[in-house]
Amino acid sequence: MSADTFSKVDEMKAAIEADQPGDLQALEQFRIKYLGSKNVIKALFGEIRNIPNEQKKEYGQRVNAVKEAAEAKYNSLKQQLETAAEEAAVKDIDLTAPGEPIELGSRHPIAVTMNRIIRIFERIGFVVADDREIEDDWHNFTAMNTPEDHPARDMQDTFYLQNSMEMLLRTHTSSVQARVMKHTQPPIRIIAPGRVYRNETVSARSHCQFHQVEGLYVDENVSFADLKQTLLYFAREMFGPDAQIRLRPSYFPFTEPSAEMDVYLGTETEKDYRLTKGTGWLEILGCGMVDPAVLENCGIDSTKYTGFAFGMGIERQALRLYDIGDIRLFFENDVRFLKQFASTI
Ligand code: DAH
Repeated sequence: MSADTFSKVDEMKAAIEADQPGDLQALEQFRIKYLGSKNVIKALFGEIRNIPNEQKKEYGQRVNAVKEAAEAKYNSLKQQLETAAEEAAVKDIDLTAPGEPIELGSRHPIAVTMNRIIRIFERIGFVVADDREIEDDWHNFTAMNTPEDHPARDMQDTFYLQNSMEMLLRTHTSSVQARVMKHTQPPIRIIAPGRVYRNETVSARSHCQFHQVEGLYVDENVSFADLKQTLLYFAREMFGPDAQIRLRPSYFPFTEPSAEMDVYLGTETEKDYRLTKGTGWLEILGCGMVDPAVLENCGIDSTKYTGFAFGMGIERQALRLYDIGDIRLFFENDVRFLKQFASTI
């Protein structure tokens, strides 16, 4: 009986020696069979019950040796076969094959339009002032001559932070005027491009987020004529040398007098007809002479300095530039749409 059991151990040892897994898959079968949780060597250990006491020690040692042999064989084969598999994989790489092209990203049409506008103003000495989108009530409204309960606040409802009615998403880039004037004395000549927010229903023509470029020029003797000439220069650079502009009287709390500016595009093309609602005139910005109260709010002597300011929307200009009919497309981030305007400017 015990001789039989001993010979089973020898048979197992021989079987392990004879087993020659040729690849990693066969090796895994080997592992399961001899080293897995239900391996065949366990059965041999179980037999120890039937071995006479004086032989138990020797039996145990021999089965252990079989187990160790299986482990050693597994470990060395694993290393060999893995190395062989790696070498085979490398051998299959064709070093002369062309690489996979990495698609280049490009600027968003809004960014391209915005950069064009920035360049135009930089050429006449304006510098970019970049500031925060999460703004406090003071910079967005109060400093801009729109104190609490002022009816003009209704025109610019926005999103407030949950934990503070003092903090909001800026409704216009005019807040940057206050940011800059608070820490800079004239001459000031800045443009402030960026994203703004309004609590408005999203449609083809309006969105709860959009972009503006703000302009501010404060110095001694700045006049409305300077404003008008600057805007005419801008319109001609942006829309072509024949561009015409008109200023319509308007109201903004932070400028006095205030105006809105339209550019004449004509109605010849269908897109111009559509965009100007058949009038030929496209409204692109609000502007005016900085209200002395705004200068004073921000620590600038209004008896010494005057200034002009303007704020223009980007989306409408981009719609025209790219002949796009729906503002929502700008924010959907559909690569198929964006690719059509690929540009790196
Ligand atoms: N902030 C105004 C708006 O969002 C636009 C504007 C009008 C800006 C007149 C100005 C300005 O700087 O002078 O509707």
